[in-house]
Amino acid sequence: MCGIVGYIGKEEAAPILLEGLSKLEYRGYDSAGLAVFAPSGDIVIKKAVGKLENLYQKTENGSAVQGVCGIGHTRWATHGKPTEDNAHPHEGGRFVLVHNGIVENEEFLRNKYLSDVEFKSETDTEVIAWLLDKFTSSGEDPEMAIRHIMAEIQGSYALAILDKTNPDVIYAAKNKSPMLIGKGEGFNMIGSDSMAMIAHTNMFYEINDGEYVVVTKDGVEIYTEYGKKMEREPFKAELDLSDTEKGTYPHFMLKEIEEQPSVIRRIIQQYTDDDGEMFIDENIINDINESDKVYIIACGTSYHAGLVGKQFFEKMAKKPTDAYIASEFVHNMPLLTEKPFFIFISQSGETADSRSVMVKVKEMGYKTLTLTNVKGSTLSREATYTLLLYAGPEIAVASTKAYTAQLAVLAILASKVGKEYDINLKYELSVAANVIETICGERENYKYLAEKYLKDSRNAFYIGRGADYYVCLEAALKLKEISYIQAEGFAAGELKHGTIALIEKDTPVIAVITQENINLNTRSNIKEVRARGAKVLVISMRSLSLHRDKIVINDVHELLTPLVSVVPTQYIAYYAALSRGRDIDKPRNLAKSVTVE
Ligand code: M6R
Repeated sequence: MCGIVGYIGKEEAAPILLEGLSKLEYRGYDSAGLAVFAPSGDIVIKKAVGKLENLYQKTENGSAVQGVCGIGHTRWATHGKPTEDNAHPHEGGRFVLVHNGIVENEEFLRNKYLSDVEFKSETDTEVIAWLLDKFTSSGEDPEMAIRHIMAEIQGSYALAILDKTNPDVIYAAKNKSPMLIGKGEGFNMIGSDSMAMIAHTNMFYEINDGEYVVVTKDGVEIYTEYGKKMEREPFKAELDLSDTEKGTYPHFMLKEIEEQPSVIRRIIQQYTDDDGEMFIDENIINDINESDKVYIIACGTSYHAGLVGKQFFEKMAKKPTDAYIASEFVHNMPLLTEKPFFIFISQSGETADSRSVMVKVKEMGYKTLTLTNVKGSTLSREATYTLLLYAGPEIAVASTKAYTAQLAVLAILASKVGKEYDINLKYELSVAANVIETICGERENYKYLAEKYLKDSRNAFYIGRGADYYVCLEAALKLKEISYIQAEGFAAGELKHGTIALIEKDTPVIAVITQENINLNTRSNIKEVRARGAKVLVISMRSLSLHRDKIVINDVHELLTPLVSVVPTQYIAYYAALSRGRDIDKPRNLAKSVTVE
């Protein structure tokens, strides 16, 4: 969702801000803007609706806006349409600022303090700028005013603030929205994501909720909302510029699909100790063992990984487990068992729906574990424990390598909880990585099939049973989010209870068959849809395959089949979207990191 970048130093700020914003494009946005202190001392603000390209044009690639201190923003509309007026930065008297998050009590704040203000936008952000102006006009210095707004605002924010009276400082403040400070030599930066700054520095200060920061070109001072100065060392990010670039790939999604074998190998390496044994922090294992049920909380693709995780825990560890959609769980919490243990799965570690559940269950005193790809993310910092995915930055909105990474880490965790279960997971995961590599070698086949089966179809169905059904849900989500084909994943046995009414001549049905115990059942369901005119494409494991099956995958351990069977479906989604000319890495209406509920 929205992205922030700020720069203060000796170089021209605008090109740096634009480049930083381009690295944040993957998060999803519908307008962009920047504000720079001009040499005259005025703040120049430029905004553009639509692609960042429009802002590049408006600023002549940044050259039309001079100055060495500035802030930039990509906005994903929440309050008000994506218009230029609503785009950030926003100006309120003395202050110009950009904001990620939501001010929940904006109406109250408008009425209490700002009834005389004529607002230019429909945003909650403009309220913050005017509040700062109000508080400084009544005698507070800027830091006091920032502490004051922090006390007043209910909701989430990452803020980067310019004060028209002081071109030598950018203020920042954070609560429940991600923000980092990038430390440079003779410059410093602010970003909602390290990626916005990685071209300039790989040293970052972590900022906690309820802290504000005074950033100058030579210094970074961090304070609590009560004004207490904090001492903090910067950390070095395990990320380099090449991680954020496509290289020779036409899209990040394709690159990320094909990174999956190396991601699994990296996970094996990261979770193997010096004796060559796979390991997980014993405290996590003990807490799960002491619990009477594992509750997995997640959204979207991560939820689909959670469904497979349920199987891992129940089969390998004999531990009752359920996966829940976070946005449902938070408002309709099921009756909990006596000793629940909560696992949050989130690629970004920032998903607001999951975080709301985290806040609730922590208040209830339960222990939590987050599986995330982003070290230091909100869900990681707030959980009792974290297990990292080591997938490297996932830039495409459609999640691919994070899903397989989530499955791999869940499998390792479940195998360590279920010590009795006989599996050489290190070996089996390596086999899976090799099999994915073979699958990646057949991309031309998936391109051909995607075009043949999906090019002109208005809908498509994935069917499967058990673990295959879970993969079908993920496959359908992938297809719909990037190709905009209406796609659904169904439990194959349920078709005859209603859904089969949708099958007509040439309806594409993709069946996934990886489990011996359901092979024949799903094959019967295939016959039923074929009899009603469906065009059926079967994805099966080699040992279960029939000659008509169009995609045959080399065998892996039967619990790990979702790691491999999902890969052809990712390619199918990719090529179906490509054949329709979709914006694959940045599909419409979607954001990479969903930081609003
Ligand atoms: O960062 P998270 O894993 O918490 O994100 C959850 C979902 O928003 C995400 O998986 C979404 O469904 C993806 N776009 C799917 O490709």
